[in-house]
Amino acid sequence: MDKERLKRMAAEIAVEEIQPGEIVGLGTGSTVRHVLLALGKKVRDGLNIVGIATSKQTEEISAEQGIPLSTLAECPRIDLTIDGADEIDANLNLIKGGGGALVREKIIAHASKRLIIVADESKLVPILGTTFSLPVEVLPFGWEVTQTAINRICNESTLRQSSEKPFVSDNGNFILDCHFEAIRQPAQIELQLNNLPGVVENGLFVDRVEKVIIGTTSGVKTQKVKL
Ligand code: A5P
Repeated sequence: MDKERLKRMAAEIAVEEIQPGEIVGLGTGSTVRHVLLALGKKVRDGLNIVGIATSKQTEEISAEQGIPLSTLAECPRIDLTIDGADEIDANLNLIKGGGGALVREKIIAHASKRLIIVADESKLVPILGTTFSLPVEVLPFGWEVTQTAINRICNESTLRQSSEKPFVSDNGNFILDCHFEAIRQPAQIELQLNNLPGVVENGLFVDRVEKVIIGTTSGVKTQKVKL
């Protein structure tokens, strides 16, 4: 089965979690795109919800789909956020930010009562950092100095590029993709990175997820956080 089909299967189940009248955080990425398509159909069929987008890309797709959007200023308390991930470990900790939206994603996750992650099975890993580099958003000012400090925590890092120029996030910042052999203590690494001057945020999401909905070749599987 192709990956897009697995993503769509997971997305369509996740959208069933949304209740009428809810404020819904809308993540970013190719899996969330399927969420937006399924949610758009429900909205056009009469479902009354308000979305809060985590990126300009998601704002655009939501507008195309007729999903009404608001802001955190208007709706600071979000009922449910549905987002994607780049890696998911057995404790449902995540690496996010492959699409460059990690700062807004983390703010919106923090403002949400519930966070549900949708993904295809290729995102499941035993230990974070083993298949995907950790994105860290940094201020452009003095980013080289910030990188030197970050490189004391990871093995090495690469400035993300787009069309042969530094990639610029929706917040006007750069992203360093940080390579680790493995991230065995994600909570500690999250704090260490965010403690460095120049770091805006990193893509580790620790102890935030309520459940993950995974599209697999043998159907959709749901995993909840172990209490
Ligand atoms: C966006 O910044 C990311 O956090 C995405 O949620 C993550 O990269 C997953 O994207 P895909 O669904 O496209 O794999």
